Amino acid sequence: MRPTAGLRTAGTQRDCRPRSCPNWRAARSRRYTSPATSESERTLKRRQETEPGNPGQPRSPDPDGAWQAAWTAVERQAAACRALRIDGLFDSEPERLDRFCVEAAGLWLDLSRNRLPESGLDALLALVDAAGVPAWRDAMFAGHAINGTEGRPALHVALRCPHGRHRDVAGPAVDAGTQPRPDPLTAPLKVGDEDIRAVVRNTLDRMRAFAEAVRDGAWRGATGRPITDIVNVGIGGSHLGPELACGALASLGHPRLRTHFLSNVDPDAWQRLARELDPASTLAIVASKSWRTQETAMNALAVREWLLAGGVPEDGLHRHFVGVTANVAGARAFGLSDDTIFPFGDWVGGRYSLWSAIGLPVMLQIGSGAFDALLAGAHAMDRHFADAPPARNAPILLALVSLWNGLVHPGCTEVIAPYSDALARLPAWLQQLQMESNGKRVDRHGNPVAYDTAPACWGEPGTGAQHSFFQALHQGTRIHPIDFVVPVPDAGLGKAASERPEGGAPLADSGAPSRAATLLANAIAQAEALMRGREPAPGDPLGPHRECPGNRPSNTILLDALTPASLGALLALYEHKTVTLGWLWRIDSFDQWGVELGKTLAARIEPLLADDGAPDAASEGASGVAALSPPSLALLARIRAIRARRRQG
Ligand code: F6P
Repeated sequence: MRPTAGLRTAGTQRDCRPRSCPNWRAARSRRYTSPATSESERTLKRRQETEPGNPGQPRSPDPDGAWQAAWTAVERQAAACRALRIDGLFDSEPERLDRFCVEAAGLWLDLSRNRLPESGLDALLALVDAAGVPAWRDAMFAGHAINGTEGRPALHVALRCPHGRHRDVAGPAVDAGTQPRPDPLTAPLKVGDEDIRAVVRNTLDRMRAFAEAVRDGAWRGATGRPITDIVNVGIGGSHLGPELACGALASLGHPRLRTHFLSNVDPDAWQRLARELDPASTLAIVASKSWRTQETAMNALAVREWLLAGGVPEDGLHRHFVGVTANVAGARAFGLSDDTIFPFGDWVGGRYSLWSAIGLPVMLQIGSGAFDALLAGAHAMDRHFADAPPARNAPILLALVSLWNGLVHPGCTEVIAPYSDALARLPAWLQQLQMESNGKRVDRHGNPVAYDTAPACWGEPGTGAQHSFFQALHQGTRIHPIDFVVPVPDAGLGKAASERPEGGAPLADSGAPSRAATLLANAIAQAEALMRGREPAPGDPLGPHRECPGNRPSNTILLDALTPASLGALLALYEHKTVTLGWLWRIDSFDQWGVELGKTLAARIEPLLADDGAPDAASEGASGVAALSPPSLALLARIRAIRARRRQG
């Protein structure tokens, strides 16, 4: 590993310090400008060439007005359903449970508790058609460049295809007498000249060999110690999916290995973690799709320094550092050699990348067999998404309910409550997935959209959440639809409460079975209470305070058990929900231009925080950055004053 090499970062150059004084009032535009490049023009052309259903032909967003007509019909119906009673729908619609409950890849979804009548669902299904959702879905599986603004395919689904996963899985059968219909999920797939199935297979083979070597102790640190701790250094999509999966499947973890995640550039994050670690037995995985993320770069360098200071010799660093990236050249420049770089293609979006080499910490923790099961679960959901008709298609239905709720409850957020502590990081993962994917204000063609996109998404595991924010769900003035994600616990469900001894104590063992029953009962009770509410008792002076209006929407997603396969299916369900919403809203769910501005500005502001940085340096400079606003300048001045005081005292 070369001593001076570092992750190349986009934002750490210090040669761009602005020179002149700020003149905020005189600034012509108070917004920062982004560069328009010929690359933008090229991707626009590619985008027009890759609209599904009409490859090679530029298309307007709504050539025949079909989408607008379907959208208007949905909007009208939704507005008319704002006061609809959910429980009343079970009387008027005898088929309701059949229509709104669906089984997919081992998951069972109950979407019946929403202010969505069957006629509304029909209107939504017409929108699916008008928005071309099936064509977009097929284009995704076929590897078309559906990420228009970046001119790329979105092929996370290829990462879990069995033909990619294993060399010994046969390709699609060809019947001599009939014309074979290629199976889009498994057919040969190329991006440019690259054979995607082979690329996926090769990386997985290398990951497996590496993971097994670490797990069985053959891979050792520079001083000969087996690895005990794995530190994943990465942020966003290079952090949240692996952290979620490692937490969810911790019970399958290797007894010697502990997995940690370092994402925040806050020095305290690493200092606290480092205290738990021994350099001689620590393995760092630097995970960055772009290999240009500043936080990851700085944290990777901090880990490197710590290893060296902790006695790992320079020429032994390669035993303690591996890289996962789509930018192999960048990882090489950091000093990694090809045998410790696990690549993935830029045709995988960061927040959809758990299934790629980004999943290496998961494989290290649970082993390659269980990781295969995770991929297989996701693939089963892909299969369902590709094949099931929209009216029985779980991800499409989940997306439709979400879209509908946004119209029936304008400004609502979406809550996610896993009834499983192991799924504690599901809300954080989903936040990035949904809000980074669909937090967009223009459609694929750059036209402003006239409706709300990605609602804020948040949550916590039950039952803890019941004792914090559920009060607002039951009695607050705002409506927040909620997804209950409920794995049926492994532990038996024990005796019914009525059979337990006085005081409710369990009969045997430490009480796990009965706590599992309590957990499940609470999940069911909350959905019930939210829908049914509670009438005040006649004459109760506290009646208005006790009353719960009910009629509050929720979905329940039941998992047979929390296993690698069911987790894979669950995450793929939400991925497909997210991109389906993007297609319904006609936005690009695979880019994230909005996060760039803050990164650029942080790099410009950083020099101004240096002790010798002049406070008036925050102005229009040679690099073309506009002056900082008065509140930012005031904040800088205040920070500088605090630091000056500290220096004096
Ligand atoms: O800041 C947004 C983002 O680009 C995410 O989309 C991504 O998951 C994260 O940063 C990390 O990026 P990388 O894996 O390239 O370091």
